[in-house]
Amino acid sequence: MTTALASLGQSILDRAAALAAHSDMEDGLTCAYLTPAHRRAQAQLVQWMETAGMAVRVDAIGNVIGRYAADPAVAAPKVLMTGSHFDTVRNGGRYDGRLGILLPIAVVGALNAAGIRLPYHFEIVGFAEEEGLRFKTSFLASSVLAGRFDPALLDRADPDGVTMREALAQSGLPGAGSLDALRAAAVDPATLAGFVEVHIEQGPVLLNRDLALGIVTQIAGSSRFQVRVEGLASHAGTTPMDMRRDAAAGAAEMILLVESRCAHVPTLVGTVGQLQVPNGSSNVIPAACVFSMDIRAGEDGIREAAITDIVMGIERIAARRGLTATVERVTPVNNAPCARWLMDQFGAVLRKRGLEAFELPSGAGHDAMMMQRMTDVAMLFVRCGNGGISHNPLETITVEDAQLAAEVFVDFLRHFRPQD
Ligand code: GLV
Ligand code: MN
Ligand code: MN
Repeated sequence: MTTALASLGQSILDRAAALAAHSDMEDGLTCAYLTPAHRRAQAQLVQWMETAGMAVRVDAIGNVIGRYAADPAVAAPKVLMTGSHFDTVRNGGRYDGRLGILLPIAVVGALNAAGIRLPYHFEIVGFAEEEGLRFKTSFLASSVLAGRFDPALLDRADPDGVTMREALAQSGLPGAGSLDALRAAAVDPATLAGFVEVHIEQGPVLLNRDLALGIVTQIAGSSRFQVRVEGLASHAGTTPMDMRRDAAAGAAEMILLVESRCAHVPTLVGTVGQLQVPNGSSNVIPAACVFSMDIRAGEDGIREAAITDIVMGIERIAARRGLTATVERVTPVNNAPCARWLMDQFGAVLRKRGLEAFELPSGAGHDAMMMQRMTDVAMLFVRCGNGGISHNPLETITVEDAQLAAEVFVDFLRHFRPQD
């Protein structure tokens, strides 16, 4: 086993680099749902899982699911699931999501090489979509697995006007996007012993504390919105400043409201990551402005209170400026607590190695949030270098941290006991 474990860290980093070669853009990593690059990444994961000794299936939404079958001597084994997403944000990092697939694949390869079977089925899921880049969804792939797919999403179009229904119909995936197939892809929660996710921290907490690993306590709930502000197009040179109904100026005031409302409440964060003046011209007062809003907090009540204030504030600003504002709520996901019994099993493994069992909340969203609707979950965070930057090509981890995380994960799997 020791020999098989020796270079897992390096092989995880090498595979992250190889997977990042499948990109929708030339000079960076973008892997949006069901693009040719996404399909190549998916095929690569299938191959790596098979090589590691797993039986692999691809489900109706495109999840790659590998099973490392339980020791045949064990009667009626349950399934312990792990995994994370392989889609990315635009120009993202190569470890976000992918670490949580590549690390367990490397671990299964080592267990298999050493002839070690586990007393439960161990499944790794490469979730096909989490970031929402193409269809403005979130947790699309895990929602299918958790039996919570929203059929209305099939009619949602990408920026080129291709609907999810059309994309799935042409994908070659089982079921070709039929609702029956998407529903049938749900996992029976009774078969599960739990879900654990390894993920790069995507923040500076572990780095600042000089710790390689941390155990997640809970994952902050999030709400996303699309806001459309409408005003009146008119001549930029002739319309007096006090007669304008400028949609972009109104949106600017609304964005500053998001920032100020979220600025001074612990764990509350608000972001406008997309902002457009559709069909704008430099010499025309903007008739419309659209922007996204992403609001998160460690407590659902804090998030909901901020949303109420912000939406009321947007309406006030619009009314004062002679504008109209439409706020469309995209995907609320509530705060997801991790299960103490699973966290304790990670904690015991860390302490046994003389490491601190440091616990921290997650501000980022993860597939574990959706899985938590059907089973108990836990997450192991791995230190993020470069000041903790993520959703950025500068995102990084070290070989040593990847190696340690893999060894800790092996220990966790070998000691894992389902809850009675
Ligand atoms: C996922 O990366 C999210 O937290 O938005
Ligand atoms: Mn992400
Ligand atoms: Mn992620």
